[in-house]
Amino acid sequence: MTIKKPTITEVILRDGQQSLIATRMKTEDMIPILKDMDKVGYSSVEVWGGATYDCCLRYLDENPWDRLKVFKKSFKNTKLQMLLRGKNLVGYRQFDDSVIEFFIQNSIKYGINIFRIFDALNDINNIESSIKFVKKGKENAQGTICYTTSPVHNERYWIKLAKDIEDIGATSLAIKDMAGLLRPRTCYELVKKLKKNLNIPIHLHTHSTTGLSDATNFKAYEAGIDNIDTSISSFSNLYAHTATESFISMMYSEEKNPFDMKLLTKISEYFNEVRKKYKKYEGSMRGVDVNMLINQVPGGMLSILEKQLLDLNKADKLKLLIDEIPKIRKDVGYVPLVTPSSQIVGAQALMNVLDDQRYKTLNKEFIDMVNGKYGKIPGDICPKLKKKIDKASKNIDIDDDVQNLEFYKNEFKEFCSDNQLKKISKNPTDLLNFILFPKEAKDFYLHKNKSTLNDIIGLQEGFGLYVD
Ligand code: CO
Repeated sequence: MTIKKPTITEVILRDGQQSLIATRMKTEDMIPILKDMDKVGYSSVEVWGGATYDCCLRYLDENPWDRLKVFKKSFKNTKLQMLLRGKNLVGYRQFDDSVIEFFIQNSIKYGINIFRIFDALNDINNIESSIKFVKKGKENAQGTICYTTSPVHNERYWIKLAKDIEDIGATSLAIKDMAGLLRPRTCYELVKKLKKNLNIPIHLHTHSTTGLSDATNFKAYEAGIDNIDTSISSFSNLYAHTATESFISMMYSEEKNPFDMKLLTKISEYFNEVRKKYKKYEGSMRGVDVNMLINQVPGGMLSILEKQLLDLNKADKLKLLIDEIPKIRKDVGYVPLVTPSSQIVGAQALMNVLDDQRYKTLNKEFIDMVNGKYGKIPGDICPKLKKKIDKASKNIDIDDDVQNLEFYKNEFKEFCSDNQLKKISKNPTDLLNFILFPKEAKDFYLHKNKSTLNDIIGLQEGFGLYVD
């Protein structure tokens, strides 16, 4: 029996470079190869969202919407895909539905076809409105399950979640394994069951961190998956993904391969040269790290934690820090570790290790997460921690109400008139930059120097653990 071959999503332009060079690749380094990429025959290219929006404004002095326009112009035959963090959009806090709709409308207008929509806690309420707005815009609303392992995350849990996602109207489903935890056989069983229970196409996104991804992707193919995410070989493996050329070679014999391997080699060689420029952003991992299977610390997270400890002159505490993460995770009901829960748990772990005591200092975001502000927690909260959180919650002032679009429009108008920026004051995408990243957008429009991550302990926006 021949198995249907899955189509391929190329992720170099978003997740590949996000995982390997801290999302620093400039648009000018992408442009020369885009037309070639458009000829490959990918089902889609993941190009936008995740940390790229933030990084454009924060580090690259680029308007993320200008980058999207470049993609739209270059990819005539290939669908454009983005990663959307549910109610958090491409940021780190929740937004009102009016803002979510406005963001999605504009993303569609400037070229996005497929929206992969996830919530770090797998709370379906946090992805429902995005799915609705994408469908209203007649594009592909891909609902996502953020894969993790824990006593509460069993096969029944995943099937139910996937069914619920289909029921709220998702056009397709993604299994998102940001930490490379999905084992090949588990994946096979899961995909088989999902194919049996769901009618919508199923995509797999897994990372190479633990060394399982090639086998996991292959088993997904055997189980009848519809689409696999890969990254061109010169930006593959380590914290990133299975190499595009390798996966194609696993599926096809030399004679029957419909892909132009010479073209793929050309693309890979191009990015190989580009990668050299960004050497200083590379993580320290070589080969694979099987500790991830125990600690569940995802790709980008470990390298940043390492760097933070190094900056604090506490590099010797790394092992303690890594051990702390699963303990905290257990206490907070086994949340998956992905933006923003990865940052929240990472920051709290750092606190515990620096204090040499668990939960002596509690980060505000950690308190909020336990209190359900980011959505429903999958498991049970440790009662002892809950008590501490209840006590600490009393001293926190509620200062960050979610505002609607009208509120931001007025704020933006004021900002523009105060700074003689009349030209941008009516532009929806400039308004969105302002709403999503107020500080970075102001610096960007006022041509101030780029902000640096000087406060490395607190969880501020762009804390740096880019995990998605
Ligand atoms: Co990813």
